[in-house]
Amino acid sequence: MNELIKELNSFLANLCVFYRKLQNYHWNIIGKDFFILHAKLEEYYDDVNSQIDEIAEHILTLGKQPLGTMKDYLEIATIQEAKNEKIEDKEVFSKIIADYEFLLQTATSIKEIAEEKKSVATSSLIDAYILDYSKKLWMLKQSN
Ligand SMILES: [Fe+2]
Repeated sequence: MNELIKELNSFLANLCVFYRKLQNYHWNIIGKDFFILHAKLEEYYDDVNSQIDEIAEHILTLGKQPLGTMKDYLEIATIQEAKNEKIEDKEVFSKIIADYEFLLQTATSIKEIAEEKKSVATSSLIDAYILDYSKKLWMLKQSN
């Protein structure tokens, strides 16, 4: 169980950093499709925000403590924050494709650990994440 909680907390940390990064891009993106991408990034960070709450509450459901401070998140997250500066739309695409690929990998690995540990609830919960990231990656790659 501890390995699973560790992975879930690390996933939570990455989602929290990714949320900040997506909103940073929402503010700083530039390019001819600004209006479309500005709105799309808001949709993405709203999705991530729901996932943050769901994963934290799932950890609580398993009787453990979710990480809750930015300090903790930054210490263990693999996803890197974006700089607070203007960024071209092409670059945003390539950065978030890489991050969604990482999140898909993480969600898949959580699925495997959950199955191994017979945590049926975690295994079932994480399916939606795998589908969500797979679909977003397909769509992002069509626009790139
Ligand atoms: Fe906004």
